[in-house]
Amino acid sequence: MIFADGIEDYARDHSLEEDSLFRRLVDVTREKTEHPEMQTGHLEATLLRMLVQITGAKRVLEIGTFTGYSALAMAMGLPDDGELITLDKDPEVTSIAQRCWKHSPHGEKIKLILGEALDSLETVKGYFDFAFIDADKENYIAYWDFIVPRVRKGGLIAVDNTLWHGAVLDPKEPLDILVDEFNEHARGDERVEVLMLTIRDGLTLARRIM
Ligand SMILES: C[S@@+](CC[C@H](N)C(=O)[O-])C[C@H]1O[C@@H](n2cnc3c(N)ncnc32)[C@H](O)[C@@H]1O
Repeated sequence: MIFADGIEDYARDHSLEEDSLFRRLVDVTREKTEHPEMQTGHLEATLLRMLVQITGAKRVLEIGTFTGYSALAMAMGLPDDGELITLDKDPEVTSIAQRCWKHSPHGEKIKLILGEALDSLETVKGYFDFAFIDADKENYIAYWDFIVPRVRKGGLIAVDNTLWHGAVLDPKEPLDILVDEFNEHARGDERVEVLMLTIRDGLTLARRIM
């Protein structure tokens, strides 16, 4: 969080409440995983869900499932015949996701593909209306280059952690540099309009225009 302490709590307190299933998922993730901070929080996941709804998306692609918070939030924004394909290589954390999704009627819209995301992407067919990139930063540019042509014109791509705890202002460590390079790559892509939001750790939105 790169804003004043307490601001995110204030925003949460003045937003719609987190559903009990998501609260349970947060607790289980804290209890059972080593890096619960990887979970997309309530505010960002709600934004993603609303964006899926507003854009009328029917097909969503996610890279980085973890314990399934953002996947379920986005699935809630899909119509009954919508589909969300989510990719992750970790069978342990995603088993938590799968158990959670069973408790929601929206879970049926979600299809998990386990494996290295770059390999899984080769097996994914068709176009998407919405995509969310939230996995290893080393491959952000490769994910982007795969996804942009696979998102329909007018569709949206959301990319997480693009402010990288503020380190992009003075990138020194290898990951800081990679995230900064990704941001330059996205901004220079003429196929999209890019808007970087300062929510949480930075969320870049890109609308495909050509
Ligand atoms: C930040 S977490 C995703 C958080 C998730 N969106 C949520 O709301 O809880 C990143 C996930 O990407 C997965 N991941 C990292 N590198 C990957 C790779 N090369 N291929 C597939 N999954 C990968 C990790 O296993 C981890 O679960």
